[in-house]
Amino acid sequence: MDEILVLGATGTTGKRVVRELQARGLAVRAASRRGRVRFDWGERDTWGPALAGAGAVYLMAPHELPVDPEFVHEAVAHGVRRIVLLSSRGIEEMGDERLLGAEALVRESGVEWTVVRADWFNQNFDEGFFRPAIEAGALAVPVGDIRQGFVDADDIAAVAAVALTEDGHAGRTYEVTGPRALSFGEALALISDASGRPIRFGGTPDEYRAQQDAIGMPRERTEAEIEAFAQLKDGEATDDVPNVTGRAAVDFATYATRAWAT
Ligand SMILES: NC(=O)c1ccc[n+]([C@@H]2O[C@H](COP(=O)([O-])OP(=O)(O)OC[C@H]3O[C@@H](n4cnc5c(N)ncnc54)[C@H](OP(=O)(O)O)[C@@H]3O)[C@@H](O)[C@H]2O)c1
Repeated sequence: MDEILVLGATGTTGKRVVRELQARGLAVRAASRRGRVRFDWGERDTWGPALAGAGAVYLMAPHELPVDPEFVHEAVAHGVRRIVLLSSRGIEEMGDERLLGAEALVRESGVEWTVVRADWFNQNFDEGFFRPAIEAGALAVPVGDIRQGFVDADDIAAVAAVALTEDGHAGRTYEVTGPRALSFGEALALISDASGRPIRFGGTPDEYRAQQDAIGMPRERTEAEIEAFAQLKDGEATDDVPNVTGRAAVDFATYATRAWAT
């Protein structure tokens, strides 16, 4: 049986996709610069060996990197027949050309594709870029009290694994969220409940500027982010996780309790 190439295999979603597939007894090529299979977006000669023997690919672009069109062409030329792309909710309203471009590439690839549009990952708070602010007891994101469908990376991986291994998901774009939409303030309150530590939320552009200035972010970048975040609208929860996986999505309170325990 063909192997499944998982890109970003040391990252938040990729490592979970690897686990899901291995739990099904499947042959997985866990790839990244530090992965078991070496893959570097910046080193084209790593692409062919990573693709050799792969019938399906979990395709994710690391933050700020686009998906190189040549990679998709090379994957198809190597015999890949199915691509599952990690994308993001809200990319149209935020004008995210990087991920819109990646979606267009897989839709036009000529092979079976599934797009997994994930909402904010729960794991941003403990594994990802919010962690230092959570540890410091105050997080600013310039989105006020709009509600978002925070989703657990375990659920993203479960949806991706089904799409990679089962039929009936080709040509589908899933919007994967947790079971309920929450404001950032509500999400932080659940982390505070789980940890017993107060965490203050700042939802204004000024609070965001102060936070980003303090960690040395260039002002120009901060202003561009504020502008993009201003386009974000309330995002309701969807049923795509239970519909695809057959089980309920992880609630944010459950995530917070688990994350604090570990
Ligand atoms: N965070 C969110 O809330 C959210 C929501 C929706 C969508 N997304 C999207 O999700 C993606 C990030 O996914 P993630 O959180 O699973 O990843 P991640 O935890 O940020 O990890 C990035 C992965 O990419 C690999 N990588 C980095 N640079 C590389 C390079 N030059 N060549 C090859 N591999 C490289 C890293 O491994 P090595 O260091 O070993 O190479 C790692 O496995 C982004 O496109 C982001 O826009 C994020």
